[in-house]
Amino acid sequence: MTKLVVIGQGYVGLPMALRAAEVGLSVVGLDTKRSVVDALNEGRSHIDDITGDELQASLARGYSASDDPAHRRGRRGHRVRADASRG
Ligand SMILES: NC(=O)c1ccc[n+]([C@@H]2O[C@H](COP(=O)([O-])OP(=O)(O)OC[C@H]3O[C@@H](n4cnc5c(N)ncnc54)[C@H](O)[C@@H]3O)[C@@H](O)[C@H]2O)c1
Repeated sequence: MTKLVVIGQGYVGLPMALRAAEVGLSVVGLDTKRSVVDALNEGRSHIDDITGDELQASLARGYSASDDPAHRRGRRGHRVRADASRG
């Protein structure tokens, strides 16, 4: 299964990550905020447009959130950035 890492799980990154999971990709939503990561993995959305039901469906399909920076460096899969940092 194609793996996608979406860096930043805010207003841009979270909907993108969930849509990718919906179409069948294995998706890691990477974020530096531990509280965001924990809430997402528990099915609680911090983005108004995304409901808890949508998030829980994506968790069941292959989406998970992480703050492990190793996902930035992996050789396998694809990465897209939706954070606010440069470099
Ligand atoms: N929201 C919009 O309408 C919009 C429009 C055009 C461009 N953008 C750009 O898209 C990017 C994301 O915007 P947003 O609205 O989703 O922001 P946001 O603040 O809602 O989300 C950004 C997320 O990225 C995380 N983050 C920050 N640095 C990180 C890092 N180094 N690694 C992993 N996660 C990190 C933050 O914790 C946060 O959860 C920004 O650069 C913004 O300027 C946003």
